[in-house]
Amino acid sequence: ASIVVLISGSGTNLQALIDQTVHGTIAARIAAVISNRPGAGGIDRARQAGITTELLDHTNFQDREAFDEKLAETILRYKPDIVVLAGFMRILTPAFVRQFQGKMVNIHPSLLPKYKGLHTHKRALEAGDTEHGATVHFVTEELDGGPNIIQARVDIEENDTPESLAGKVLLKEHQIFPQVIKWMAEQRLSMTDNRAYLDDIII
Ligand code: GRF
Repeated sequence: ASIVVLISGSGTNLQALIDQTVHGTIAARIAAVISNRPGAGGIDRARQAGITTELLDHTNFQDREAFDEKLAETILRYKPDIVVLAGFMRILTPAFVRQFQGKMVNIHPSLLPKYKGLHTHKRALEAGDTEHGATVHFVTEELDGGPNIIQARVDIEENDTPESLAGKVLLKEHQIFPQVIKWMAEQRLSMTDNRAYLDDIII
């Protein structure tokens, strides 16, 4: 299977995926890494792994539609079976999502449907929650709303800060995201009627 990964930042999720594809536990290859931010740390991670990188700086486009159009065109050039949003901090237009629906996944640092959007760790702490976590979901037109595929949870402890919580969640992200990509590469994961299936089981 061929994968295209979209990033905006440090790319630790990308690195987890690189580690598991380059070292062969996942029968897939990352054909390209596309970043919307010039200085994204993930660009160096891709380069070090010998993976093609593309920069599509969204500030160079006059509007969201123009950016998404160029992004879709760039992705399609690699004919991916899987599109991975790994710390990709852009809201995508419905026209873009429709082209990749069913083969595009995202990781979000909360136990969706709780805390859609940003600053999830701070919000969980302020709510006095005792648990938090991360979710991998199919991307649909609803922001952070597509069917969940897998979740990992962490305990929130008394002395946790947004940073310490983010660190705990990130470690779980690096476990669950590659697992989802592995299932996709094995063609075991699908989305039908806004539901996620692993083989014939609704998950
Ligand atoms: C992670 O918390 C992820 O959940 C969110 O972006 C953050 C950074 O991810 N989507 P990465 O280190 O760039 O993979």
